[in-house]
Amino acid sequence: MEQITSYLCRYRNYNFIITLTDAEYIESLQSFEIRDSDIFLVTYPKSGTIWAQQIIISICDSDGHLNEYPNNAKKMPWIEYKDEDNEDYSLRRSPRFFASHLTPALLPPGVKDKKPKIIYVMRNPKDNIVSYYHFSGAMTDMETPKSFEWFLEQYLEGNVFASSWFDHIREWHSKKDQYDILFLTYEDMILDLKTAVTKICRFLGKNLSEKAIEQVVEKSTFKTMKKDSKANYEFIPQDKFSGNFMRKGQIGDWKNIFTVAQSERVDKVLQEKLGDLSLKFIWE
Ligand code: A3P
Repeated sequence: MEQITSYLCRYRNYNFIITLTDAEYIESLQSFEIRDSDIFLVTYPKSGTIWAQQIIISICDSDGHLNEYPNNAKKMPWIEYKDEDNEDYSLRRSPRFFASHLTPALLPPGVKDKKPKIIYVMRNPKDNIVSYYHFSGAMTDMETPKSFEWFLEQYLEGNVFASSWFDHIREWHSKKDQYDILFLTYEDMILDLKTAVTKICRFLGKNLSEKAIEQVVEKSTFKTMKKDSKANYEFIPQDKFSGNFMRKGQIGDWKNIFTVAQSERVDKVLQEKLGDLSLKFIWE
């Protein structure tokens, strides 16, 4: 890995947090065996990952078989990080659940060949930037932003963990016909959580009763998750992360911090980088 800042290193065109993984482990994913029953949640950081994680787990774990794991991060581990207890994921029973912030090229080749189900959640980049800005300031392993303006530039240049939001969206979008993938937005989930849950159920082939769907919705509201220590990542030690994953949970928070010029700059970059795709974003 090539170290690019005191906190980030670059490997195969993607920025990793130096302390969290290494090239050898990322390379080992190329021989990681995927099952067609695997279920992946893929996001760019700060797009609503732990929210979608809670929804998917609540939908799929009605019999409680994941209760052997203490929290959502263990029920649905990040594939790019070696398990701290060295768990061998090949011994897990199916269906297995994985989360990832990686791009398609870095994931095991079986993600393409075996056709596991992938749920990709994206978020308005302006709200994503604000959430990421606050998160970076609270995470010990990340560089504390010098200012919002500085962070915005780093983000737009892709000089942050997980590299460019725009590349992430483009690369995953380009796989839409080759992979078994459901695209959802954070905004879909905010505007109508029940419809988003129903969509995920349909995609995963889960035929839940109306009552069971209501229960998934209830378990996944901001208010419930804030109190749910298995879901809200309060299990991350304070010396690693001094903030709150469940920060505001709103759309449009960007309006509280962006200047008009900054907002126009993001619009311009969005147009330049993704304008050629036939994507109509819900937030536009
Ligand atoms: P904010 O920082 O804007 O509040 P990730 O899980 O990808 O790190 O994303 C975190 C963002 O998702 C945070 O956004 C967090 O508040 C929001 N989030 C998490 N659970 C949520 C929920 N149940 N409802 C709404 N937003 C939620």
